[in-house]
Amino acid sequence: MKKTQVAIIGAGPSGLLLGQLLHKAGIDNIILERHTGEYVLGRIRAGILEQVCIDLMDEAGVGERMHREGLVHGGIDLLFQGERHRIDMNGLTGGKNVMVYGQTELTRDLMDARKAEGLETVYEALDVAVHDFDSQRPRVTYTHNGQAHEIQCDFIAGCDGFHGVCRASVPRSAIQEFEKVYPFGWLGVLSDTPPVHEELIYVNSPRGFALCSMRSHTRSRYYLQVPLTDKVEEWSDQAFWDELKLRLDPQARKNLVTGPSIEKSIAPLRSFVTEPLRFGRLFLAGDAGHIVPPTGAKGLNLAATDVKYLSGALIEYYREKSEAGIDAYSEKCLRRIWRAERFSWWFTSLMHRFPEQGEIGQKLQEAELDYLVHSEAGSRTIAENYVGLPLDFGRD
Ligand code: APR
Ligand code: PHB
Repeated sequence: MKKTQVAIIGAGPSGLLLGQLLHKAGIDNIILERHTGEYVLGRIRAGILEQVCIDLMDEAGVGERMHREGLVHGGIDLLFQGERHRIDMNGLTGGKNVMVYGQTELTRDLMDARKAEGLETVYEALDVAVHDFDSQRPRVTYTHNGQAHEIQCDFIAGCDGFHGVCRASVPRSAIQEFEKVYPFGWLGVLSDTPPVHEELIYVNSPRGFALCSMRSHTRSRYYLQVPLTDKVEEWSDQAFWDELKLRLDPQARKNLVTGPSIEKSIAPLRSFVTEPLRFGRLFLAGDAGHIVPPTGAKGLNLAATDVKYLSGALIEYYREKSEAGIDAYSEKCLRRIWRAERFSWWFTSLMHRFPEQGEIGQKLQEAELDYLVHSEAGSRTIAENYVGLPLDFGRD
């Protein structure tokens, strides 16, 4: 039987960041991860960090490479009716920016730091089960290399993503789930080609949404809205580039450098929130508690703020013997989560083609976009949500 203060389930960004912040504060933790480290790093996700997330990487002591290699962006382009319009996020928010740094890189930095400090992570931990989290003595059981193990702990952090075991272990009567599934997916391609533009381009076209993003000056990430019935095998690289060109403006079409894909996948779009996020001594953080559609890249940033609130609450518990922080965790997170859910849903609704809404749907979107880019108030509403709301917003 092992003992630790906090048992963390899941070695994605949430679990790894939490582990690092707790360790810095002298709180002992073990991470259990179902897959191998290489598998976790192989999942390609978004890569736009808000200032809150950048600050947290620094606080965790793992920000050095991010500052060296990350690209600071102060604006985005919106393309509709064949024309591009820049949203000057920096100018509209009093100097705030975002940083382009892939989730894979952030995860790698956290994994390396954890390894360098000799902290325990059990990869390929199978049959993870959480027990007695409604008591003072929670337990976690799992098998590793065919052997059964048990960990006794003070708290369990459910950082195990949307399909994890923690949320699924909570009695149905204690939890409420809110969900919206969108009738399309994002087909993503990663390629070692220079990005088409120095900033991101979000495209509303009659053929559907497209996004031109990047990981570095030499690696691009592009997405196309596709029907959910499409299979990734049906999309050759050539077909992808041809369709992307059809959704771009003439300038971008001319500048686009194509090349072989190094990753290609289709992701469904979903809005999902669980309430509450705390059940006795079990907490949910990151994708285990909520999912946003990727438009606006809020998923990783929300996970980071959950972890900030959770680490703060646990540190307060151990240092000051106060439960105030853990009691407030769920409510504090949910307020911010719902704000980001609203923005991600709205930005998704504004930029995608909804075939059932017909031609008038497209016209109304274009009119809204026209208003937004030509009104300072309209542009600011995009800018301040995109760079991320402050941690203590609207408390007056
Ligand atoms: N036992 C152990 N580990 C598990 C289990 C389980 N039963 N179920 C899931 N896991 C692991 C997964 O293998 C994964 O590595 O939990 C981890 C969860 O990681 P993520 O899905 O990346 O979730 P999170 O860390 O909250 O990161 C949120 O990921 O999906 C994006 O947009 C999201 O960028 C955001 C970020
Ligand atoms: C990405 O680079 O993967 C990305 C960027 C911005 C988004 C979504 C995804 O809004």
